[in-house]
Amino acid sequence: MKNRWAVISTWKMSQNGCAAAAELLGQGGRSGDAVVRGIQDVEDNPDFHSVGFGGLPDEEGNVSLDGGFMDGDTLRFGAVASIQGFRSPILIARSLIQNDRNNFLCAKGAEDYARMMGFEERNNLTEEIRERWKKERGRDQKLTAYDGHDTVCFAALDCYGTVSAGVSTSGLYLKKPGRIGDSPVVGSGFYADSRIGAAGATGVGEEIMKGVLSYQALQMLRCGKSAQEAAETAVKELTDTLVKRNGHADAMSLILLSKDGSFGVGTNIRFPFVFADDHHSPQLYLAQAHGSHCMVEPVMDADELTED
Ligand code: GLY
Repeated sequence: MKNRWAVISTWKMSQNGCAAAAELLGQGGRSGDAVVRGIQDVEDNPDFHSVGFGGLPDEEGNVSLDGGFMDGDTLRFGAVASIQGFRSPILIARSLIQNDRNNFLCAKGAEDYARMMGFEERNNLTEEIRERWKKERGRDQKLTAYDGHDTVCFAALDCYGTVSAGVSTSGLYLKKPGRIGDSPVVGSGFYADSRIGAAGATGVGEEIMKGVLSYQALQMLRCGKSAQEAAETAVKELTDTLVKRNGHADAMSLILLSKDGSFGVGTNIRFPFVFADDHHSPQLYLAQAHGSHCMVEPVMDADELTED
């Protein structure tokens, strides 16, 4: 047994979940359980409008959710996409890692599976969000990542040396029914390999998938970059490539945790995240792109950092 544990998570909304995950890891809990615990805290909170209960709907007014989970020891993964009417996509996704086939289910197939397995059902469209959708539907707009908080991603290392990654999101607001972003796509939205580390991405899925961002960053780590170098280089290279070829790149951010517990973050926007390890209690940080690097600073007054 190693002593080191660590956990990193996306956006200010993951603060409470990160604290719960850190507590579990500090008690000798497994990284997979920590990831699920942290994400469920966000899925259950109606104040966060990009994940789970209270998530923003598609253009037809339905809240359809995506989730993914990967175990870094076995490389087994599970994912669900466009699933409606269930409480916890991350829990359903994690349950799928036990299968040798049928690891990634979508829409009706995912819902039938979740019902058969007895996962808790829930209408995730709150009254507040239904009223907002009624006012804003049909507006002519470019679909962007939900400003300030998008996918919740967790990456964790436990004291046994296992890393895990998990994600959960309601995807882009007013997306087409059936649209799936990066989050449940293994390699793009999340990846974990206990010989290297774990990563998760947040932002505009159509951009993130062009660079298979989570896997790409972990390969940079494997080839000798530090966690911070790997995360910021992966985001910067993809951003530069998209600008060169398409004239622009949309929002992308990445969290990365190495197998030794050090963290890295890359972003092309202003991106809050949370980190804790066996020596540091959960701390909110703000990352910002700065030339070819990413500036990371602790946020001393979390109330001053608005996300919504
Ligand atoms: N990153 C979330 C999405 O594009 O759906």
